[in-house]
Amino acid sequence: MVVSLHLQVTSFAFFVLILCLYCSNIVYNVVAMKSEVVDVSDFGAVGDGTADSSKAFLKAWNFVCSREIENGVRVIFVPENQTFLLHPVTFNGPCKAKEIKFLIMGRIISPVSPKTWEGLDQAKWLTFYKVSGLKIKGSGEINGRGWGWWNQSCRDHPRLEGCTSLAPTAMIFESCKTSSLSQVRLINSSQTHVLIRGTDGFIVDHVKITAPETSPNTDGIHISSASNIFIRNSIIGTGDDCVSIGDYTTNIHISHVKCGPGHGISIGSLGRSGNFVQVQNIRVNTVTFKGTTNGARIKTWQVGKGYVRGVMFENLFFNSVKNPIIIDQNYCNVRGACKELETGVQIRDVVYRNLWGTSSTEVAITLNCSRSVSCTGLLLQSIMLKSSITGKNVRSSCINAHGAAIGVVQPAPCF
Ligand SMILES: *[C@@H]1O[C@H](CO)[C@@H](O)[C@H](O)[C@H]1NC(C)=O
Ligand SMILES: *[C@@H]1O[C@H](CO)[C@@H](O)[C@H](O)[C@H]1NC(C)=O
Ligand SMILES: *[C@@H]1O[C@H](CO)[C@@H](O)[C@H](O)[C@H]1NC(C)=O
Ligand SMILES: *[C@@H]1O[C@H](CO)[C@@H](O)[C@H](O)[C@H]1NC(C)=O
Repeated sequence: MVVSLHLQVTSFAFFVLILCLYCSNIVYNVVAMKSEVVDVSDFGAVGDGTADSSKAFLKAWNFVCSREIENGVRVIFVPENQTFLLHPVTFNGPCKAKEIKFLIMGRIISPVSPKTWEGLDQAKWLTFYKVSGLKIKGSGEINGRGWGWWNQSCRDHPRLEGCTSLAPTAMIFESCKTSSLSQVRLINSSQTHVLIRGTDGFIVDHVKITAPETSPNTDGIHISSASNIFIRNSIIGTGDDCVSIGDYTTNIHISHVKCGPGHGISIGSLGRSGNFVQVQNIRVNTVTFKGTTNGARIKTWQVGKGYVRGVMFENLFFNSVKNPIIIDQNYCNVRGACKELETGVQIRDVVYRNLWGTSSTEVAITLNCSRSVSCTGLLLQSIMLKSSITGKNVRSSCINAHGAAIGVVQPAPCF
């Protein structure tokens, strides 16, 4: 009797032990499953820089996108020290996986020849469409090798037969949600480096974007029809705007960015096709501009309608910038070619606070607003701009601009 009880107790203990091992195994499996890593090489990607790996990337994407892990993260891994050539490719959502990490440790390069795009959409290279919970990160590089397109751009080679105005954007995030792009370097895109469009909730963080100052239309980041976008801790130097903000944008926050060379941070151009512009709550904070053509810029077309309101430019430093502060409400790609119109995009409630540094031209503050729809509620506060040429003075220039100045404002405001 005693023996049997003892045996029962022991077997119970043994049972519990086995159960626990089994449990922990389950726990272990769940933990491991929580981040399932998928290496693109396992899907046939070849990191030799010459084989087209776009099909392999797409297979890896479809594998990861199509299955859900309960509370888990799927990781697509691009190994370091390898170079993957990708032809134009679109990573489509929506995905079953709630969160997908794209960990780019190696290099991703584009075909050099525009011929690769024959029969394809010339505006795209890498596109993410309708994806939510996408997190692209890693110390890798995305190189658009854009010189093949720059060489045939109509801007730079207007007389070249078959010149093109359109060239592929390196990364497009279209109709995405709560996603991010961090750490990676983007280099030499054929045109815009990152386009965020039709997207709600996107963070760009610790990204470096570089292209030659002379490269045509190589915007760093362009945002349009988007809301709740954060761009921070990034370094952008290209041949066009560091960041440009287009029509239909709300809650855009840009902070801790180094901009230059390039055309600065631009809201616009807006209203080009006579549309009703809605741009609201844009904050640009803690940005340094070095050798750029513009600093804080707003440009709108006269044919446009609608509004830009609630804009805050704060804590900006300019180092030899042509137009540190500029509003151009009469924007026209050929000066003087656009006749004066009754329409215009209304610009209102724009704050410029704590801006300092140097201007490389005489007019450091340009507020050129339209006669029919003047600018209102402009606030200049604590501004100290000098000429980058010793002994020269700077001034401000206003047309139809209304607002107030608080504290030291140098050059003197012209309201
Ligand atoms: C990548 O290259 C670096 C430098 O050659 C080397 O230290 C590192 O171990 C390599 N990584 C892999 C995964 O091969
Ligand atoms: C681009 O143009 C430059 C100068 O015209 C030339 O040296 C270079 O080979 C061209 N590159 C390509 C990829 O066509
Ligand atoms: C970017 O393009 C320029 C001009 O063609 C070239 O000099 C530079 O080496 C390129 N950078 C990289 C990292 O490929
Ligand atoms: C302001 O815009 C008008 C209309 O385009 C233009 O003629 C004028 O030169 C501009 N003024 C300044 C100071 O940029």
